[in-house]
Amino acid sequence: MRSHLCGEVSAADIDNIVTLNGWVLNRRDHGGVIFIDLRDRSGRVQVVADPDMPEPFAIADSARNEYVLAVTGKVRNRPEGTVNQDLVTGDVEVVADQIEVLSRAEPLPFQIDDDDIGEQTRLNYRFLDLRRPSMQDTLRRRHFVLSELRRFLNDREFVEIETPILTRSTPEGARDYLVPSRTHPGEFFALPQSPQLFKQLLMVAGFERYYQVARCFRDEDLRADRQPEFTQLDVEVSFMDENEVMGLMEEMIRELFIRVLDVTLPDPIPRMSYREAVLRYGIDRPDLRIDMELTELTDLMQKVEFKVFSGPATDPRGRVAALRVPGGNSLSRAQIDQYTDYVAQYGAKGLAYIKVNDLAAGREGLQSPILKFLPDDVLEKLIERTAVASGDVVFFGADQAGVVNDALGALRLKIGHDLEMVTEGWKPLWVVDFPLLEWSEDDSRWQSLHHPFTAPRDSDEALLDSDPGRVLSRAYDLVLNGTEIGGGSIRIHRSDLQQKVLNVLGIDNDEADAKFGFLLDGLKYGAPPHGGIAFGVDRLVAMMSGVESIRDVIAFPKTQRASCLLTQAPSKVDQRQLRELGIQLRKPRAE
Ligand code: AMO
Ligand code: AMP
Repeated sequence: MRSHLCGEVSAADIDNIVTLNGWVLNRRDHGGVIFIDLRDRSGRVQVVADPDMPEPFAIADSARNEYVLAVTGKVRNRPEGTVNQDLVTGDVEVVADQIEVLSRAEPLPFQIDDDDIGEQTRLNYRFLDLRRPSMQDTLRRRHFVLSELRRFLNDREFVEIETPILTRSTPEGARDYLVPSRTHPGEFFALPQSPQLFKQLLMVAGFERYYQVARCFRDEDLRADRQPEFTQLDVEVSFMDENEVMGLMEEMIRELFIRVLDVTLPDPIPRMSYREAVLRYGIDRPDLRIDMELTELTDLMQKVEFKVFSGPATDPRGRVAALRVPGGNSLSRAQIDQYTDYVAQYGAKGLAYIKVNDLAAGREGLQSPILKFLPDDVLEKLIERTAVASGDVVFFGADQAGVVNDALGALRLKIGHDLEMVTEGWKPLWVVDFPLLEWSEDDSRWQSLHHPFTAPRDSDEALLDSDPGRVLSRAYDLVLNGTEIGGGSIRIHRSDLQQKVLNVLGIDNDEADAKFGFLLDGLKYGAPPHGGIAFGVDRLVAMMSGVESIRDVIAFPKTQRASCLLTQAPSKVDQRQLRELGIQLRKPRAE
């Protein structure tokens, strides 16, 4: 239908006749001459309709934004003074001999080149939103990222294998999406939270190197970096230990960054233990672009008079820590109050602080509501450990360790952004040596930090009985600028050990058989040592595109309330359909 793409018409085509197809980006009537910017996937070019040519002129006159046109005409240089330097095709234009309307458009809910449109409108009219150049760029980048990842793995003899969507529950820790079965009334499929169990069985089946660009479904509280359905690059290998898996995967990520962004990531990517991450940053996915760390004060505060500090300092599960903010002395009382409210969301009962006006002036140079509670020797050590300088402020957290870590970890990020302390660039980090289990106060039982198929370190196996909380796992997470972009582990490949870990998690043999019998069975028939990882593709592409929300890198995303504004899903269904499925709805509860 066309001879050229709009964005490719150039000076080399002068005096040639071209035929273009595309959308009217805008139409300008310049006193008798009509200009149309015609856009297709490649870019845009200016079309001129002259009144000397009445037929194309009349059609150009009737065309509106986003009409689809076929334009045939001669390419000419733009008159001097009208060249548009910002446009690849800015020095030429096409004088229309013939224009055909291929499709009309109603008046638009928003203009395609408007960058300031509410998200609700964008999602309602996603097909128009996706026409915007920024969305076109992002989805093309996403395609490029996926094709580069596939190429890397294909070159290394990985096989892409699809696993079921209609399946059983996989325990990744979120709520399941359920699908009722018509042929088995009263029974349900679960949509996979990940292909975890299937990929392990593919290792049992001898494929050795598997990957899949896999859709995962999790009914959880949504945030900017969480969607109810999202995409993983899911990988599993046999006969590799954790160092080999991490080595291969970081080679893949490094290559990806070079090819897509021309960015060289550190080689090797640094590693940090979970314990160190939590002690220094309060969080297991530290953003290393912010140069601030927590300082441990628990031992120092055991004997101070101030109960707020000495209480947690002497509680085995408590922690007292400080966050030194360089230059933070300029924060106002009101700002400090706002930060106090901010940390309250994480359970902190207050936010003590010391402003350092003049370090050389001793006590006189410090300003703080808690100064009177701190004896000289404690104050001296505090100054030494936090390495404060005049002009800084030091914030304190004292509580159960979890509360202190959450509060000061979040405060570090918040202040880092507020005071523009986030450096440019990419800071990847492997976090390793996670505990296998964590105690859930709510359920009064042990829970997996990753998932129940993660292997404990060989040397810690005996601790499973005596001190489960001290068992470290063979898991690893890849963190980039404070976002967890991937996580995985070496798996348990012995059925007896798997059974045992399930028992520690409070899942007895009958329940284990009912839920994961097929995996436990598989592990009995020659399961190779294996492990793997899954990367969050949406998060990776969002970061590489510099957008805040993963909704901006998904063609048809869900809202924060897990609905699709475009299709109005989820939706009610016919009584007949429900009857077929053996489902009767309860009366909705009164609001
Ligand atoms: P995990 O649950 O850590 O591991 O998920 C792997 C990666 O997927 C991304 N991710 C999400 N992205 C968008 N929306 C969500 N709701 C969401 N949840 C997770 C994150 C995360 O790092 N089966 C294991 C992997 C393995 O052990 O091999 C798993 O699914 O970037
Ligand atoms: P108070 O003695 O309650 O007036 O507290 C004195 C200072 O300690 C105030 O600045 C409070 O914000 C702060 N504070 C109170 N509880 C905590 C806590 N658990 N952690 C850190 N600071 C606290």
